[in-house]
Amino acid sequence: MKDLVSPEIEAYAQAHSRAESAVRRALREETQRTMEYAQMVVGPLEGAFLQMMTQLVGAKRVLEIGMFTGYSALCFAEAVPADGTVITCDIDEKSAALARRYFAQTPLGKKIDIRMGPALETMRALAGPFDLIFIDADKANYLNYYRRALDLLAPNGVILIDNVLWSGEVLTQPPPDERTAAIQELNRTVANDSRVTSVLVTIRDGILVVRQKA
Ligand SMILES: C[S@@+](CC[C@H](N)C(=O)[O-])C[C@H]1O[C@@H](n2cnc3c(N)ncnc32)[C@H](O)[C@@H]1O
Repeated sequence: MKDLVSPEIEAYAQAHSRAESAVRRALREETQRTMEYAQMVVGPLEGAFLQMMTQLVGAKRVLEIGMFTGYSALCFAEAVPADGTVITCDIDEKSAALARRYFAQTPLGKKIDIRMGPALETMRALAGPFDLIFIDADKANYLNYYRRALDLLAPNGVILIDNVLWSGEVLTQPPPDERTAAIQELNRTVANDSRVTSVLVTIRDGILVVRQKA
């Protein structure tokens, strides 16, 4: 992933935002030491943003699409109230094993419910409403995830979609590959969807914040 914001500005923003908890820091560092594609972890600054959104919405039920080693799931678990829940999905057993080990080390882990299997199938089997839905898995399915997320969303809920700037590749026409095309299509679809309002926030690799119109 290409840095869209300079590392100095990113570090400054991070230093002036909600701090990373000890358990998340340990998980991030172990992920960086032991896992391929460790850059997929949202990290402390985006994590603080996810937590702010969770608390602004007053989210009690969160759905995450794409858990990896569990960093963002822990962000949500820290931000929901004591009786809040986070359902998170993944297909990769190796990542899930690391996530489970960290979830077991903290009482927050009791709030997290892992659903293994293709996320679209999981989403189809789930019943809403969810107050916050975070989409951060395979890009080719982003539009499918968005459509199902709208069905599952509480009236005042919010959908957050990660990597919508795709290292800046969204500017390239024609799109160089299928994943870039899928993200461009998602961004176009949301911008033209009369049911919702949205803002594309330029934190890290871009986060699309979507809510339904009143
Ligand atoms: C970008 S990572 C998620 C990062 C995570 N949110 C974090 O901050 O640590 C994407 C994850 O989606 C998972 N994934 C890919 N395709 C999937 C699918 N069809 N269903 C469920 N999970 C999938 C991958 O295994 C990977 O762990």
